[in-house]
Amino acid sequence: MRIDKFLSEMGIASRSEARSAASRGGVLIDGVPVKDLSKHIDPERVSVSYLGRRIDYNRFVYVMLNKPEGYVSATEDSSLPVVTDLLPDELQKRELFPVGRLDRDTVGMMILTNDGHLAHDVLSPRHHVKKVYFFTAAEPMAEGVEEYFKNGVTLRDGYECKKAEISLSEDRLSGYITLTEGKYHQIKRMVAASGNRVTSLERVSFADIALDPSLDRGEWRYLTEEEIGLLRSGE
Ligand code: URA
Repeated sequence: MRIDKFLSEMGIASRSEARSAASRGGVLIDGVPVKDLSKHIDPERVSVSYLGRRIDYNRFVYVMLNKPEGYVSATEDSSLPVVTDLLPDELQKRELFPVGRLDRDTVGMMILTNDGHLAHDVLSPRHHVKKVYFFTAAEPMAEGVEEYFKNGVTLRDGYECKKAEISLSEDRLSGYITLTEGKYHQIKRMVAASGNRVTSLERVSFADIALDPSLDRGEWRYLTEEEIGLLRSGE
């Protein structure tokens, strides 16, 4: 990879900033100043320093986003805003994509990465990754719904869902549902199968990683090493 491309993809410097720093001896490869930033390096094998700061190369990036309403869980759409629009320019260059989907009107926990293998494994139905949703319903949830969910809801199209847990508020108008699968509109369809309707939906946890309460809707942060470990344990 070109040195200037590396620095810009890592969000360290634009190409012109890097050129100016290099002309002042501020870009070192393995301790040696370089002026020609079109030179190719293998960032996993060399040490890069920029204006006295060592730049560690992270091949893969893992991000938690608090998804707001109105965004499509995709990297592009012909007319609507997509979740990757919420990331800063330097991350847009790293080609992150969402791990799984949330409906446009669903909010909350979304993981984005450019680690295709990890995303593939985490989403594989073999791995039963846990997802927890908070929902509100149009009417109080029916008596016995806990047992109904526990035994595996049959959707209106005949699909038999895996066992799911539901825990309700006292007035039964809201609650948490834990799934280990991710079918299209699954929560909405499960609640519909119980004779009710979801009025709002938020994912609060994915693969045992809880949505960070300090993130407002639309905000993101990098996953910690521990959180990446939780994601990997779903591989
Ligand atoms: N279930 C739904 O119905 N919608 C989502 O966005 C996620 C789970």
